[in-house]
Amino acid sequence: MTADRGDLLTIGEVATRSGHAPSAIRFYEAEGLVHSMRTPGGHRMFPRYVLRRLAFISSAQRVGLSLQEIADALAMLPPDRAPTKAAWSRLSTSWQRRLDDQIVELERLRDALTTCIGCGCLSLRTCGLFNPGDEAAHAGAGPRYLLGDDPPDVPDQDV
Ligand code: FES
Repeated sequence: MTADRGDLLTIGEVATRSGHAPSAIRFYEAEGLVHSMRTPGGHRMFPRYVLRRLAFISSAQRVGLSLQEIADALAMLPPDRAPTKAAWSRLSTSWQRRLDDQIVELERLRDALTTCIGCGCLSLRTCGLFNPGDEAAHAGAGPRYLLGDDPPDVPDQDV
């Protein structure tokens, strides 16, 4: 990996600009998610493009993707030079389905929080309509309507 000093950042500069703690950056490096070079004095120097990898890591974590999923995705990018737009595009295409599923799940959660989610609590008035006697439990554990099961059709009510 070669770069001019202008394109190289210390771990402190990377931490300040990325918002990640130096310990987290060292952890990501140990996991092979980011790469640095060493000065003759043994100090880590990171190429500036590491900031985009770190931004990608924190965004992916914020939407609930695992470190392994992130590592698998970043493995699609060249480790020793700034990824091209095409490289990022390949990565995002590979994630399209995963992110779409995540969006559907988040929308389902957003829309379901004011009504019965089929979890067995029977604590909302809508539970009597959508999950009488906790019939949702027949389909398995967890919040069945959040997990994708359809609640029974009930006539429109003022609930
Ligand atoms: S919200 Fe829990 S059973 Fe309805």
